[in-house]
Amino acid sequence: MKPYVIINAAMSVDGKLDSIERRGAALSSAQDRRRVLELRAEVDAVLVGGKTLLRESPRLTVKLPELSQQRLARGLPENPAKVGIVTRAELDPRGDFVTAGPARRILFTTSQTPPDQLELLNSLGVEVFVQDGQRVDVAQALEMLAGLGLRRLMLEGGGTLIAEFIRLGLADELRVYLAPKIFGGVTAPTLVDGAGWLASAARPLRLIEARVLDETGGLLIHYEFL
Ligand SMILES: NC(=O)c1ccc[n+]([C@@H]2O[C@H](COP(=O)([O-])OP(=O)(O)OC[C@H]3O[C@@H](n4cnc5c(N)ncnc54)[C@H](OP(=O)(O)O)[C@@H]3O)[C@@H](O)[C@H]2O)c1
Repeated sequence: MKPYVIINAAMSVDGKLDSIERRGAALSSAQDRRRVLELRAEVDAVLVGGKTLLRESPRLTVKLPELSQQRLARGLPENPAKVGIVTRAELDPRGDFVTAGPARRILFTTSQTPPDQLELLNSLGVEVFVQDGQRVDVAQALEMLAGLGLRRLMLEGGGTLIAEFIRLGLADELRVYLAPKIFGGVTAPTLVDGAGWLASAARPLRLIEARVLDETGGLLIHYEFL
């Protein structure tokens, strides 16, 4: 069975996940950062795409001791598993994705990843799944995650991987923090990038919740995919 997938991201009012610099510009408010950590604490695994992983090596942990304690009390590991989806892995072994935890670390990649990188990651305890093909087969990766007992997943971006999940009908919910900022720029990443699809194939959504999240004027918009 396919795991339940919640897409979560922060975007500017003009729909960008980052500025044209693509250096992981801050968008979340303090309240939104707290909301994201609480959501992480509720899921079995947190996923990110290759560009986000290689450029930012995100921590993806629940960070707050009270949240890890709550997980432990529920019989869960301190942090959700961290999952990277990357065509050609060149991870920094000292980066937060690899080192921050304790957390199970899982990587789906292709045979384009050099053997010495695979060896290095294995030696660091990262569970690596190598697929044939030009890019990672995301549906197959989700099946494998379900087989590992990971049933509730949070996809934290970027826009290319989010697009792939939506294109394949693999996403169940979309939670977006809308920051009162405008980044602009045709090359800045948007919430849903990729090649796009025809208007006739637009994915319908049902509103679950929309509310003002903080005094900066940031909004939380929460939909489910129909
Ligand atoms: N505001 C937020 O909430 C948030 C969250 C996360 C990231 N970001 C921002 O998003 C930007 C990065 O996003 P991005 O869209 O460039 O990249 P991304 O979604 O992080 O990563 C996409 C890459 O993953 C690899 N990949 C492997 N298999 C794939 C598949 N089946 N489908 C799609 N991708 C696959 C591809 O690498 P190849 O092209 O090498 O094949 C692809 O380019 C950064 O600026 C980051 O700061 C923002």
